[in-house]
Amino acid sequence: MARKKIALIGAGQIGGTLALLSGLKHLGDVVLFDIAEGIPQGKALDIAEAAPVEGFDAKLAGTNDYKDIAGADVVIVTAGVPRKPGMSRDDLVETNAKVMHQVGEGIKQYCPDAFVICITNPLDAMVLVLQQASGLPPHKVCGMAGVLDSARFRHFLAEEMNVSVKDVNAFVLGGHGDTMVPVTRYSTVAGIPLPDLVEMGWITQERVDAIVERTRKGGGEIVGLLKTGSAFYAPASSAISMAESYLLDRKRVLPAAAHLTGQYGVNDMYVGVPVVIGENGIERIVELKFTDDEQQMFNHSVDAVRELVDACKKLGAL
Ligand code: APR
Repeated sequence: MARKKIALIGAGQIGGTLALLSGLKHLGDVVLFDIAEGIPQGKALDIAEAAPVEGFDAKLAGTNDYKDIAGADVVIVTAGVPRKPGMSRDDLVETNAKVMHQVGEGIKQYCPDAFVICITNPLDAMVLVLQQASGLPPHKVCGMAGVLDSARFRHFLAEEMNVSVKDVNAFVLGGHGDTMVPVTRYSTVAGIPLPDLVEMGWITQERVDAIVERTRKGGGEIVGLLKTGSAFYAPASSAISMAESYLLDRKRVLPAAAHLTGQYGVNDMYVGVPVVIGENGIERIVELKFTDDEQQMFNHSVDAVRELVDACKKLGAL
């Protein structure tokens, strides 16, 4: 059986980590693409030189030419610029939407059968631009945010209750950013929901609330510490878990930015919801029944995504 091929568009901090993880997890051969000359080639060679030590046989290549992504099974997109001081949100949207158009063209031409995972921010709007530019069916294009936000929530909860992260499950929905919706009643430790754990005295409601707030601001906390960049290890791990579910047809139930066509009352927008990822891409969208409070938080989050989508429309990117 031929090895699978993973194309990573953007060979920056997340792109490099994605390449290393793809190798360590034996997911397949990797092509790193970037507009910066030398960076993808250098990172690919560096990781290829780690392969004998780590014992993986993947081929790694770096390129500045889209034709080298031909036939990729999975494409993970991190290309773009981060928001810099003095840059407005609309400036960021304009710049990264142009990048999504270029990337979409490349995918359309060279690997129209791929499963595409977008990471570039502002995520929920950029994934829509990418899907439209690529012309791929919406179930083959999704955005990574929920796995990362849930992982942050899980980490904080596990630390607080002094239990294994493996036994903590959490669902974080909505758009990526301050308006995300952590659904605490579906968050569990070994199947025991958080509200029950509060009753059992494992954690106080005040601490749950503080952890929800910290999760919402999780990205900003890392930026504040790193000062010169944003998170990359956990975002890369999160996207790899989605790629793995597709490549191995694991049918994992994961939160992802998925194209909604009426689910949750949302039409033709990407928003974070639970989905099943398998060999056919986004195979199912899970529709939870919200409480009034949750619905309100979700609507607020959807409004924030809609604003970004409208900004893209105003700029002619959609
Ligand atoms: N085509 C291809 N690559 C591009 C393009 C383009 N048009 N424009 C920029 N890039 C490349 C840059 O050269 C850089 O190597 O994208 C890479 C981005 O890498 P980093 O700046 O290191 O960013 P990273 O930390 O990897 O995050 C990437 O993910 O979480 C989001 O907000 C984050 O949008 C950002 C993205």
